Amino acid sequence: MAAFSEQHVLSVRHWTGSLFSFRVARPASFRFRSGEFVMLGLKVDGKPLLRAYSIASPAWDDGLDFFSIKVADGPLTSRLQGIKEGDEILLGTKSVGTLVHDALLPGKRLYLLSTGTGIAPFASIIRDPETYERFEQVILTHTCREAAELAYGEELVASLKDDPLVGEHAHKLIHYTSLTREDHPRTGRITALMDSGQLWDETGGPLDPASDRVMICGSINMINDCKARVEAAGLEEGSNARPGAFVVEKAFVG
Ligand code: A2P
Repeated sequence: MAAFSEQHVLSVRHWTGSLFSFRVARPASFRFRSGEFVMLGLKVDGKPLLRAYSIASPAWDDGLDFFSIKVADGPLTSRLQGIKEGDEILLGTKSVGTLVHDALLPGKRLYLLSTGTGIAPFASIIRDPETYERFEQVILTHTCREAAELAYGEELVASLKDDPLVGEHAHKLIHYTSLTREDHPRTGRITALMDSGQLWDETGGPLDPASDRVMICGSINMINDCKARVEAAGLEEGSNARPGAFVVEKAFVG
């Protein structure tokens, strides 16, 4: 089987000067688990240039959504940001990842900690009915520098109550936003909100290794800093082979 196929771009939306999302056709044979990523890219000078991208749409959807930053001198995103409806992109045939339910033990609360485009895999997970079968409460945290960067997540969460599959569970989701470089009802890095106890106070109490599960997605530093705090609370990292209390993934950009 080929490593990738060519797929049509169905739509593109620019959220800010540095963030855009796009939707591509989903090959009938393409299967994935919510939270996974896939290689995606363009042909540059006749050669494939691919990067890992989290799939931001749910596993049952006809299309595949992606949420990306634009890096001015990034080999791929400097070009990818110019795609238009009807263009072709390259899509890997296989998806993988650790931000999946299979890597977590059963629990009651699920924390999805994200910064920036790290919200992408969680855009998939919060629209997966399995998430609400497995957990009583889901807390999606999203921290960005500026308010405009929260819009993608805000629109997504607002649309959840009208979602035919998970709409009835929308009340179980807490969308917990904070900003670090602009005024907002809540300010500060997610790590600072953990350290001060504000995150736990506002979402029902301290992290409990017996019943709380955590997925972390952001920059490498964000992941390491969150991981240290979650481990200090007594949670053990899980994997596909050995489910645990938390899992991490970095937001792949370039
Ligand atoms: P800050 O503005 O204080 O750097 P970035 O675009 O650099 O990945 O940042 C996205 C968001 O993640 C910003 O709000 C940023 O805060 C925050 N952030 C950056 N590094 C960390 C970290 N090590 N731990 C927690 N949050 C972080």
